[in-house]
Order: sequence, then C-alpha cells, then structure tokens
Amino acid sequence: MAQQLATVVVAAAPSSSNSPRLPLLMPRVVFTPSGLDIEVDPGTSVLAAARRLGVDLDSVCGGRGICGRCQVVPSTGSFAKWGINSTTDALSARGATEVAYKGRRPLSDGRRLGCAAFIDGDAVIDVPADSQVHRQVVRKSVDLADLVIDPLVSLAYVVVPAPVLGDEPSTAEAIIKALKDQHGRNASSVSMRALPLIQPALENDERAATVALRTDDVGDQVVAVWPGFVDSIYGVAVDIGSTTIAGHLCDLATGEVMASSGRMNPQIRFGEDLMSRVSYVMMNPGGERELTASVRTALNELVGELLTEAEVDRDRVLDMVLVGNPIMHHLVLGIDPTPLGMAPFTLATSDAVHCRATDLGVDLPNASTYLLPCIAGHVGADTAAAMLAEGPHRSPHWQLLVDVGTNAEIVLGCVTDQYAASSPTGPAFEGAQISCGQRATAGAIERVRINPVTLEPRIKVIGSDLWSDDPGFAASTAGLTISGVCGSGIIEVMAEMFLAGIIVTDGTIDGGSADRSPRVVGDGRTFSYVLYEHGDIRLLITQADVRAIQLAKAALRAGIDLLVEHAGVAELTDIRLAGAFGSHIDPLYAMVLGLVPDCALDGVRSVGNAAGAGAVRALLSRQLRREVEGATRHVVKIETAIEPRFQQLFVDAMAFPHATADTHYLAQLVTLPIRIESVESGRTGRRRKRDGMQRQ
Ligand code: FES
Repeated sequence: MAQQLATVVVAAAPSSSNSPRLPLLMPRVVFTPSGLDIEVDPGTSVLAAARRLGVDLDSVCGGRGICGRCQVVPSTGSFAKWGINSTTDALSARGATEVAYKGRRPLSDGRRLGCAAFIDGDAVIDVPADSQVHRQVVRKSVDLADLVIDPLVSLAYVVVPAPVLGDEPSTAEAIIKALKDQHGRNASSVSMRALPLIQPALENDERAATVALRTDDVGDQVVAVWPGFVDSIYGVAVDIGSTTIAGHLCDLATGEVMASSGRMNPQIRFGEDLMSRVSYVMMNPGGERELTASVRTALNELVGELLTEAEVDRDRVLDMVLVGNPIMHHLVLGIDPTPLGMAPFTLATSDAVHCRATDLGVDLPNASTYLLPCIAGHVGADTAAAMLAEGPHRSPHWQLLVDVGTNAEIVLGCVTDQYAASSPTGPAFEGAQISCGQRATAGAIERVRINPVTLEPRIKVIGSDLWSDDPGFAASTAGLTISGVCGSGIIEVMAEMFLAGIIVTDGTIDGGSADRSPRVVGDGRTFSYVLYEHGDIRLLITQADVRAIQLAKAALRAGIDLLVEHAGVAELTDIRLAGAFGSHIDPLYAMVLGLVPDCALDGVRSVGNAAGAGAVRALLSRQLRREVEGATRHVVKIETAIEPRFQQLFVDAMAFPHATADTHYLAQLVTLPIRIESVESGRTGRRRKRDGMQRQ
C-alpha cells in the first residue's frame, strides 16, 4: 500500500522555538521502512509529517520532547530509488529540546527526536523498530516470533487548560478535547473507573497528565489517568492449568516480558485431576465457591509476585488475559463447573469473556480482563490460545497440535479445516500412577538408555549434566537424592525397555528376559525392571506402571487417530507437542511408544507452553483476539466419548508402538524388535534384534 500512495502535501506545523527556516521549495521526505513519502512545508517536524502520512511513529508526549518514543534516524546519501539526495542539512540542527532531553530512552548519536527535528530539505528518514507502535516483538522467554504488537491500550500525555469560571466544559470534556487537539485522538468517553482520577491528576502546575486510551471496535475510551508524564503500562497473561498457574508480565508498548512466574494450583488439595474437583463440587454443596476462591487467591498472589519481580505498580497494569481448560475457566469466573463433568458437557459460554480484574478478586484496579473463547466442553481457552500461538488454522498443510496433561487436548488443522478433541489420558504421564514416578525436580531421573545386550541402564538426573557412566557422575549428584522418575524419564525408560526386548508389543514385561539380566525380577505373576538401586532406594518399573502408560498413551493416540480419520489425512508432516510434558519429551521416544503417528522425525517437535505464549499474544494484539474468536467458531468438535470408532482405535493403540499403524519412518531410526508371542497373553509381541546400536 505504501508505494501506491500519491505524494501528499502538508503544511508546516505551528512553529516551535527551534524551528527556524526560510527555504523556497517544498522538501520531500521518504520514510523507511514503509516507503511512504510526502512533500511538506519547510519547518514541518518529522513527527507531524509522519502523522499526517500515517507512518507508524510512536509518541506519548504529543511532541513535547519528553517521552523519547519518536526517535528517528536520518539517512544520508543519494537514493536513486526515490530520486532523493539526502544530506546532513536535510533536518534542522539539534535545538534546545533535544539538548535538554533526558528521557528514559537515550538519544544516541545519529538519532533525532522526530518531534524536535524539522525538515529543511529532501530527506530519507528511517523509523527504527523501537519507535514503531506496531513493532515486532523481540523473542525472549516466551516464543513470540512473528508477533507484531497491535495495542489495545496506549498512552497520551496532555496538558489541559485551567478551567475558567463560566466555562461550560467538564474536566472529562477538557481532556477529550486535549486528546483531539494534541494527539488527534477521538476519545468518546472517560470510564467510570477513571472519572474520580481525572481532576486530582491535573492538580499540578502544568495541569499535565498522562492518559491511557483503550481502543475497541467502537473507538477510544479514557481508562486511566496519572499526573504528569508516565511512559510505561503493563499487562498480565496467565495460563491457569489444573496443576500449575503460570503468568507473564509484559510491557504493553514493547511486548517485552518483564517477569514470569508460576505456582501450584492450590485446588490440587480438592483433587489431583479435573474430574475429581468436579466430583468435589458435586458432593459438597458450595464447593464451587471454595474452588473459585482458591484459584482467585492464587491468581492474585501470582500477579503480586510478577509485580514485585518487575518493580511495577499495580495501577500501571491495564490489561489481563486468562486462558485455561473449561473447568478452570468456569471456576475462575465463579461458574459452577458441574455441567462439564457429565454428558453433554455443556459450557456456560464458549464466547470470549470481558470483565474487570477486580471482578475476579485480582487487585489490579485499572485492568480489564479478557478470557479467550472455549472450543468445547473438554477443549478450552488454553487450547484456543495454543492455536493462536502455533496457528494450525493458518497452516497450508495439516498440523497436529497436542497438549498433554491429565487430559490431552488435540487439534488437527490446516487453513481450511480444523478438528479438535480431548482425550482422558489421566495423570500417568506426570508420574502420578507410576510406582517410582515423581515431579520434574532436582534428582528426578529424566533420561534413560538401556544396553540392548546387557540390559544395563544409563541414566541422567535433573541437576547434573552427566550420564551415570560418565566419570564424575557420583560427585556431581552427591547433593541430590535420586528418588524417582519424572515424565520424560518414564517415556524414555518404557521406550528403551521395549527396544531392548524387555517389554513386548502388547506391553507385557517378558519374564524370559530375566535370563538375560538380574535387573528383570519376578514379582508374583508379573515381572519388573530394576532401573536404579542405591542404598535403601530401589526404583522399579513394574508391570502395573507399563499398563498405566499403555492406557494413557492409547487414550492419546486414539484421540489423534480419530481426528486423522475425520480429516482424511494420509500422512502427517507437522506434529507439535505442547505443554510442560510435551516440552521435555524426546520426539523419537514419543514415536517409539506410539504416542504420535509415524512421521519424519524432523516433523515432530516440542513447542513449549503454547497456551501461555498464545495468552501473551492475545494480550498484545487486538487483531489476534479477533482472529482467535473467529478461528474457534470454525473448529469441528469431535466428542471421543460418543464416537463408535474410538474404542477400536484405543485397543489398537495399546500395543507398542501400535498394533496396525505404519512405522516405516520409525524403523529407519531404531531397530524395532521382531514380533514374538507374549508370555502373559499368548498374543503376538515383538522381540528385539540383538544387534541394534545404543542411542545417545
Ligand atoms: Fe515525545 Fe518526541 S513525541 S519526545
């Protein structure tokens, strides 16, 4: 669009103390990177020219030389593309405003304040990324690659004339007029929350205040006011998980993540998984109020931690975005989740919800709150946020997005069609139903390799970079207690046991392997594998552990296969594992166990906390809120509980890696065991070829 616009001609802005000029011709200025150009009266400020042309150049102080947001970089040289020879004389010399400028954003050599630099001749002027309102976010702790900020709230510094007896306008009208005169902003009103603030804010000699303007589909509204100059406002994005509540505090102007924090969801005391919490509500009248109070208290405390860490005042937080599964979504809103605990799993609302932070007991007096839409009774706002982050609905090819927790939320989508389902995996992947399972804390076994000939294991534990057969391992783990296996370790040990022939295809621990190693031990009618033994600690992988993982992975895989069948996808090339569990799982081992369908290994990747990243994106972009609201409406919901095919898919998925599905990509990466008869069931199993190489 930029290049197609005709050159615009504008008059000079009202003169300033450092705007001396007498040129004869109208200089032409080209802004980069937009390429927009304009002819101006000599003496026009760079900011005025940019504004009239619609160039994305920031300003909070309205050209008073206070905020430093309007910095530009004049380019010199001959620019044949535009027929411009831009010299050092193209802009006025530094005047008093720039010399006196002492703002938070230093004015480095080569940069000028756009509001205090005046155009004397033809010029090419670059607007650096940090001076653009719709700037691209620098990637930090949250994956915000490609995010362009589209702010919902922005700041404007105004000086409001003192009222005179007999004048009609109210202070609110005077502020709205100042916004129009000094910033060209058309605010329609002052919010109820801001009304008590506006008169005290102007009780200073300059009658100057900084106004926060919230922009929505009907226009701008003044939502907060502070005396004098304020140049930063913030927002909070929180993913309310059933186990963990994780939040980020972001600068709303730059997108910078200022602080991140997480804490356990205190609702765990009412039940480990979601359904047990719903059961608590069903069996205890008023229980939903207890659960609501519990999660709201945790949310408020988490916000307090973020503010303390970033040293930000509460009143500077203008926005909050929350995502969570449907039950967390309902509980934080104070809605009884009981209907979500039984068919037909009806949501109170699937639409995005707007409210104030204080409505949810969060002490952020100026913050609006936005909850992303839910997709279905089992597929919530967290999945909507993950979609926003990973974009299956924008993808030209089929993308499988899986978030594994106590429930697995699964989205299979491309730009034309999207399907979603949830599958009840239970807490086994988090170690809860595994005899030696534990959370991923220091000392937990996180990686496992088993020698296919001797069946001896090598392990790595959280807190040490060494493998157990590396020199120095004992010393490096001396301060750790190796007391259990975390989620990624559980996946690896099961997969390695299968590859080593200790577990056969149907999930039975093969008692015959006891002849090969003393690590396979009898346990009544079944067998176990001794993964680790030291002093009093003996960590076993039991037959019951294997069954728990089989059930969990079969539920996940059957859900995936159901969506694949509905979509009619022949082969997947893009599989993304999200969530805390998905972040740490090795894609190869996910394929060995058959958690995900066969796929070229580089097509499977972990994407971290996609729900959290999606929440931050929604916090920083109005356009993305519209996008997710539209996208979730088009998702086809597949209800696994009533799908006749689910049961058969589940049975097939119980086998390692799968009873019937193709595994040719996997077979190129590992030596899959050959099939044998299971000792326990007499059904077909696999025995490993003994010549396989060990994986690193
Ligand atoms: Fe604020 Fe230029 S607009 S310093």
